Amino acid sequence: MIKELGIAMPNTVMSTYNRLPVSFSHGEGVWLVDEQDKRYLDAISGIGVNALGHAHPKLTHRIQEQAGELLHSSNLYGVKNQQALADALCALSGMDNVFFCNSGAEGNEAALKLARLYGHKRDIARPTVVVMEGAFHGRTLATLTASGSRKVQAGFEPLVNGFTRAPFGDIKALENIAKNNHDVCAVLLEPIQGEGGINLLPEGFLDQLRALCDKNQWLLMLDEVQTGNGRTGKYFAYQHSSVMPDVVVTAKGLGGGIPIGACLARGEAAELFKPGNHGTTFGGNPLACAAGLAVVDTLQNDKLIDNSAQRGQQLLDGLKERLGKLSGVVAIRGQGLMIGIELAGACGELVQQGLDAGLLINVTSDKVVRLLPPLIINQQEVQQLIDNLCPLIENWVAQRNAA
Ligand SMILES: Cc1ncc(COP(=O)(O)O)c(C=O)c1O
Repeated sequence: MIKELGIAMPNTVMSTYNRLPVSFSHGEGVWLVDEQDKRYLDAISGIGVNALGHAHPKLTHRIQEQAGELLHSSNLYGVKNQQALADALCALSGMDNVFFCNSGAEGNEAALKLARLYGHKRDIARPTVVVMEGAFHGRTLATLTASGSRKVQAGFEPLVNGFTRAPFGDIKALENIAKNNHDVCAVLLEPIQGEGGINLLPEGFLDQLRALCDKNQWLLMLDEVQTGNGRTGKYFAYQHSSVMPDVVVTAKGLGGGIPIGACLARGEAAELFKPGNHGTTFGGNPLACAAGLAVVDTLQNDKLIDNSAQRGQQLLDGLKERLGKLSGVVAIRGQGLMIGIELAGACGELVQQGLDAGLLINVTSDKVVRLLPPLIINQQEVQQLIDNLCPLIENWVAQRNAA
């Protein structure tokens, strides 16, 4: 009413985001449509969430059906869908059990609490977790401490105790930590760093890390919040290797847009939580787990994980062919449909230029164009993405070289 009268109102939403000047009314497949009916090719999927794209009929139907039956009953009682989704995730991952929550950060909190219980069980008075430079694990106090970015931490000191940091992918640094720090009980890392700039581990690193963890009785904990649920062309990214982690965290794509997170554990790590140790009101409710089940079923039945591998390769090859030799393009890297194009300087303006051209992309770590399209993307849409994105980057490079 006051707004209608033209009276300026303070923004009632806290200003934690720099939002782009667009909002969407609906979507279909890989397309989003704004309030003015302009269509955008969505190459970021709500930051890796809309694994099945927008308005996927199977996910929509399953959510509608569940909403008409039971939304929530609480973890005071049995939750059939939660059990079914836990069974499915354990079968897919080789893990033993699952704690459900509502987000990636909460999943990592559960993992960090497991690490502390495990450390105390080993009689370590001040259990310490090794985390990586460039990591991103969330915005709660423990997960922002675990994250390797001052930007995320600044202003929120005092940070949480019990972390030590190593360069990403440096096994020698981890061996040194093992020699010198006897409080370490676990290591937490992303198999591919997402927010940190699509950083891949060196070949064979996870095997070396598994051996180091076994030797020192450390838990190997993987943050697959962004890489999980088919994003890299396997259900989980560690499945590109023969390594089995002790703890795996996932979220994002699991609910296809309905908030859900999961912390999976195996072996000794799976025995640590006892009733009363951990909990959540909403985590694993019937609606969220129905969405998770629809996503997991559809990923499998529609062979979308294979699609992620194949379309990801098409995208990577296409981008390398068009952009790979340009000076100003530092690297084009990724796995499956998780791809980064690192440029030689800050390139945030490409996001707005993408919007103008009907393309949703993201820039992370200041100079890495990040692509996380829905896993349903087809061959023609990948080509369209390449054709729409490359001129923007070619133009960015030309302007930089002319300056
Ligand atoms: C690897 C990783 N871990 C954790 C998180 C935090 O997840 P959420 O925002 O759902 O708390 C993110 C989010 O971007 C992420 O990419």
